[in-house]
Amino acid sequence: MTTTDTSPTAAGSGANASEAFRASAERHGAADTSPERVSTVVSAVLEGVHKAIRDHDVTYPEFQAAKAWLMELGEGGEWPLFLDVFVEHEVEAVAARSQNGTVGTIEGPYYLPGQPTFGSVATLPQRDDEKGTPLVFAGQVRDLDGTPLAGAEVDIWQADADGYYSGFAPHLPEHNLRGVITADDEGRFEITTVQPAPYQVPTDGPTGKMISAAGWHPWRPAHLHLMVRADGHRQVTTQLYFRGGDYLSDDVASATKDDLVLDPAPGDDGRLRVDYDFVLEAA
Ligand code: DHB
Ligand code: FE
Repeated sequence: MTTTDTSPTAAGSGANASEAFRASAERHGAADTSPERVSTVVSAVLEGVHKAIRDHDVTYPEFQAAKAWLMELGEGGEWPLFLDVFVEHEVEAVAARSQNGTVGTIEGPYYLPGQPTFGSVATLPQRDDEKGTPLVFAGQVRDLDGTPLAGAEVDIWQADADGYYSGFAPHLPEHNLRGVITADDEGRFEITTVQPAPYQVPTDGPTGKMISAAGWHPWRPAHLHLMVRADGHRQVTTQLYFRGGDYLSDDVASATKDDLVLDPAPGDDGRLRVDYDFVLEAA
């Protein structure tokens, strides 16, 4: 991918992701954690670190380099980015143990609440010259019994055809490729958008530097992000990927699942079209 001077820097998107995370504290709710549980979990985390040091003969220079890197991670505002790429998938897997219906995956750092709302048939806000293959994404929201969930909300956000998210990349208009669609009386929706490109973790910040120091690649496969909600039902936070796309089997964020891969095909009007239904369990 080419970098232009309007591209988001790691410092820019990292700091915005920190701000967005702080603003979302209420949405995530406070963790009510007893001293016993704090002790158990924190001890286990520290033991994991201690074991890595022993098993791999970590030296003083390496320890000091790690300290400097962690300081940079905080100062660059990249904790949300780093944790969502390398840790969130495991928390999501634990949550998924008790979830029925459509499978979830990580939220990532780029959700923004309060986006424009639309009826059941909508085109996501986009620039007049928005790049990318037009895509019609349609489906139905139902409960576990197959009953349509009238008025369900499909809250969707995605990168553009260059892999950038509005609200985090300064060159993109506010709300670009974001919206909240309300399903009709039969739980149906139809969203017109463009196919996103794969996403690259910003390479100029501490997370990117760690990835390249380890000889890994910084890419996530192209994806749509979704939160699907309906009164009285448990919200699903998930992502949908594209069959045959790059990085599907080696997502840097380890967040792909077989059930979440779309197969768009040209529809009658020549545009790419794909249907995907969501199933929500009662809350
Ligand atoms: C990150 C970015 C994403 O677009 C995503 O879906 C998950 C994680 C990140 O950079 O942390
Ligand atoms: Fe993403």
